[in-house]
Amino acid sequence: MRATRRFVCGDCGRETLRWEGRCPGCDAWNSLEEVAAPPPGGRFRRHNGVSPRPLSAGAGEDTSRRSIVLGDIDRVLGGGLVPGSIVLLGGAPGVGKSTLLLQIAGRVVSSGGSVLYASGEESEDQVRRRALRLAGGAAEVLFMAETSVGAILEAARTSAPDLLCVDSIQTTVSDGGSSAPGSVTQVRDAADELRVFAKESGTPTVIVGHVTKGGGIAGPRTLEHMVDVVMQFEGGETTRLLRTTKNRFGRVGELALFRMAGGGLEPVTDPESASVRGRVAAPGSAVAATIEGARPVLLEVQALTTRSAQSVPRRMTTGFSPRRLAMLLAVLDRRGGVPLDRSEVFVNVVGGFRITDPAADAAVLAALASAELDRVLPTGCAFVGETGLSGELRGVRNLDGRLRELARAGVSDVVLPAASEGPEDPADERADLTLHFVATARDLVGWILSNAEPATGGE
Ligand code: TYD
Ligand code: MG
Repeated sequence: MRATRRFVCGDCGRETLRWEGRCPGCDAWNSLEEVAAPPPGGRFRRHNGVSPRPLSAGAGEDTSRRSIVLGDIDRVLGGGLVPGSIVLLGGAPGVGKSTLLLQIAGRVVSSGGSVLYASGEESEDQVRRRALRLAGGAAEVLFMAETSVGAILEAARTSAPDLLCVDSIQTTVSDGGSSAPGSVTQVRDAADELRVFAKESGTPTVIVGHVTKGGGIAGPRTLEHMVDVVMQFEGGETTRLLRTTKNRFGRVGELALFRMAGGGLEPVTDPESASVRGRVAAPGSAVAATIEGARPVLLEVQALTTRSAQSVPRRMTTGFSPRRLAMLLAVLDRRGGVPLDRSEVFVNVVGGFRITDPAADAAVLAALASAELDRVLPTGCAFVGETGLSGELRGVRNLDGRLRELARAGVSDVVLPAASEGPEDPADERADLTLHFVATARDLVGWILSNAEPATGGE
């Protein structure tokens, strides 16, 4: 017999047959929500009346991308907006999603296109005031404050825009459903209706999605599967970073950097300033050279360790995977000789950024060891390297690109895997840098002990 009830985690999208207080997928509490089981054959089965034909017959159809001349957005999109594509723009509240989307809309208008912008988040007045501050064609965007997907699509059919913007998917409700806005079912149904419209009409559609505490897009994982492109907007005080985590029409990981200014988001061209400028040398602070797309970005990692009275000490991360941290703590304990099993451990990527590049392992290890040993890592020193379970530091991709960025950012010393020590002539980008090769986590800790100053006031 088919189960009629199912539950979906609003954070990670894991499905279960029984309700549980804690999601078995991501350990989030109270995140499971009941959804209707899909009809036999799948919920998205639709007959669109096409017959098979050779792939070559469709060559050249509908592939003209619409270019968005705004910083590196075109590159993030893989060369512009693809007709009929549906793009999810995710990010924390206040990061600038609505501003970015309105600026994208403005660029489409000023290049001769038309845009329908529907918002369930803000009133017409609020959006008008924002549009008037932004340069470009933002003020000429067709706007409607609307939460009903039916009404939005009706307006879209009438006005036939070159771009449809929906802010946000969590406030949009599908008319058939009875669940509350923002619930898993509603988000999925609304996104499905928008997706069908985008595909049928060929209208590129951008939807804004909120993110959860863990940094994922709120709502079921299926939302990410339903769209063609997932862009994440993140960052802190000044520099914001836009990147693709999924792209059916281009490579992922490409990024664009912006700075929030009085007249909206301005493109930034010097990625090394993303997080390390203004850094104060202190125990627990280390610089990582991570790669996103084609561009290396320098990020500051901070760690703090403190004795815990709890039987299970806390581990908190911001901008870094808790699972990866657990692995690095085990490596540091068993292979590096720095046990932290009795300590509370906090790791923070400065500037609101999120690290997914394993080459940042060495910097996280260095930050942890520096915090625990109360040593200040030398200023002008950065760390590169991925860690394996045996404690070995492994080579990383595009090392020369990372070294080039480090040299440009004024870094003088780089600690990197011995595995990267090549017999060939040192490349130009290595010329201005002093390279310190370490083979293992233990060597890394040893390097810190002999090169990092004890903190003043420390033991
Ligand atoms: P917003 O786009 O509303 O963020 P989100 O949609 O992701 O929640 O804007 C975020 C912040 O940017 C807001 O606090 C105001 C600020 N801002 C500026 O500093 N300059 C500007 O020109 C605009 C439009 C916004
Ligand atoms: Mg907004």
